[in-house]
Amino acid sequence: MSKKKSASDEKLQNELKKSGEIPKHIAIIMDGNGRWAKKRGLPRVAGHKRGVDTVKDIVEACAEIGVKYLTLYTFSTENWKRPKEEVSTLMRLLLNSLRDRVDELCENDIRLTTIGDTDSLPYEVQKQLKADIERTKNNKKMILNLALSYSGRWEIIEAVKKISRAVEKGDLKPDEINEQLFSKFLTTKDLPDPDLVIRTSGEFRVSNFLLWQIAYSEFVITDIYWPDFNRHHLYESIRAFQKRERRFGKVSEQIKKEVNSKGVTNAEKLPSQIS
Ligand code: IPE
Ligand code: IPE
Ligand code: MG
Repeated sequence: MSKKKSASDEKLQNELKKSGEIPKHIAIIMDGNGRWAKKRGLPRVAGHKRGVDTVKDIVEACAEIGVKYLTLYTFSTENWKRPKEEVSTLMRLLLNSLRDRVDELCENDIRLTTIGDTDSLPYEVQKQLKADIERTKNNKKMILNLALSYSGRWEIIEAVKKISRAVEKGDLKPDEINEQLFSKFLTTKDLPDPDLVIRTSGEFRVSNFLLWQIAYSEFVITDIYWPDFNRHHLYESIRAFQKRERRFGKVSEQIKKEVNSKGVTNAEKLPSQIS
């Protein structure tokens, strides 16, 4: 690890591992940078800068506690509609952190992947992304998946187009289309669905994030603005997740029976694996 773990942090992490299951895939809607800055009389960019520091803390903490996939909603399709200067600032910050943080990703054995329409990003960002993805491709501990120029509806439409073309070519029959096949046409085809979605800054909405994949995710919404969110808030969010009973449409008694007989909780399976 780039920073030595404190004894108290290690203790908290061990407690968390013992108190229940660590979500395999956490997806975060990192919101509230602008309001964090406004509250302090600072320009929005100050909030975005602090937000980048939060990313570092949360990525490292997730890898340390055994999260396997972390998807960060970094820039949405709709964020292109922000004032031009803010979009360029966000792109510059993204480029800088992709340049400066790739060594840390390697030190922490983290692989970088992306989802979204990355072809629409500035050329320099695309180039840096490609280099970082290539450099980290054999890392094994955790996948850090950045949603960039991403939206759930965009992704679903793209999948529908690909499926339609396959049907048109005769490679696929309409009756062969089912949930599993559809998932394979999404940009998240290599990732399990998120177990836990965290949204900071207190907004109760999904904002076009992973619409298909969050069908059975657990949600934690915190009032904390993203620049103030830290690993202790993450641990609290995971504790809240551990206390939930994921029923996937069934009744509580069935879930308890399954856990007792198989020694495995439903949270460890995908909804499609649960009969
Ligand atoms: C999240 O913070 C960063 C991005 C969406 C890129 P915001 O910039 O949305 O901050 P608020 O919601 O205006 O406070
Ligand atoms: C969601 O935040 C997108 C990202 C975190 C990248 P927004 O700030 O764009 O969401 P809305 O506009 O408040 O729904
Ligand atoms: Mg926002």
